Amino acid sequence: MSSPPAFRTAIVPAAGLGTRFLPTTKAVPKELLPVVDTPGIELVASEAAAAGAERLVIVTSPDKQAVTEYFRPQPELERTLEERGKKDLLDKVRRGPALIEAETAVQDRALGLGHAVGCAEPKLTDADDAVAVLLPDDLVLPRGVLGRMAEVRAKHGGSVLCAFEVPPQQTSSYGVFEVDDTDEDDVKRVRGMVEKPAPEEAPSSLAAAGRYLLDRQVFDALKRIEPGAGGELQLTDAVALLISEGHPVHTVVHRGGRHDLGNPGGFLKAAVDFALEDPEYGPDLRDWLVERMSRS
Ligand code: UTP
Repeated sequence: MSSPPAFRTAIVPAAGLGTRFLPTTKAVPKELLPVVDTPGIELVASEAAAAGAERLVIVTSPDKQAVTEYFRPQPELERTLEERGKKDLLDKVRRGPALIEAETAVQDRALGLGHAVGCAEPKLTDADDAVAVLLPDDLVLPRGVLGRMAEVRAKHGGSVLCAFEVPPQQTSSYGVFEVDDTDEDDVKRVRGMVEKPAPEEAPSSLAAAGRYLLDRQVFDALKRIEPGAGGELQLTDAVALLISEGHPVHTVVHRGGRHDLGNPGGFLKAAVDFALEDPEYGPDLRDWLVERMSRS
């Protein structure tokens, strides 16, 4: 008999202001910026679907409805492409809506990641003992870490986070975990988290990544935390509250790559990385990059 899925619902918070990507984000949600030709939100939706999610709850702001529109079928466009025999393009257009059932929850004001996740709660059903949260501006490669996180929840219960090893000089850019070892090398028990510590104050070299497998209790914790800097409700504060109450929280140390799509520098690296692997654009881009680098 197979065990029930670790989660059925994946929450994708996409209601932030995207200030690091201004001025583009005045009009275009950063979640829709294309990595080669596919927006980040589709890449995380396909990761969630591959990990077994049946539903995606996209948290958007009232002026970012285009993010959920992206997952709606476009019958007119599909008809036109069909008439023109554009089979490849038709497949691309249909891919997003076919991936997963996408619903919207609205966050009226950008009051923080914790607040955004809390806005998804009314969309949950009794079957949702746990939810996955995927940040759409964080690409975790190779995909599949949610599967390992589900195994860890099955073994230890509670909530499971995702960590990356970072060099000491980079700890001040991340939330850094304070951990104890377990009997598995890639799994640590989380004691706490320090936001953006200087290298000498960092409790470990394990930085948080934008993948969470959260027990439903997190929604109760989110109602009990106080807003922090900028009036924002932080998801990590809710997790810290749960830890203080004895809720088991572990982190999977993911050995792989990562792209931060939330700022132009990280986004460009992701676009180049993906484009170099693309059979259509890769070879020409590689030649051009070599020639361009020779000119510096
Ligand atoms: P970020 O901090 O990366 O996004 O939040 P941001 O706030 O849009 O970006 P900057 O810092 O202004 O450039 C991580 C994810 O959480 C969502 C964002 O949309 C992003 O996908 N988020 C953040 C919300 O949905 N609501 C919020 O209030 C804050």
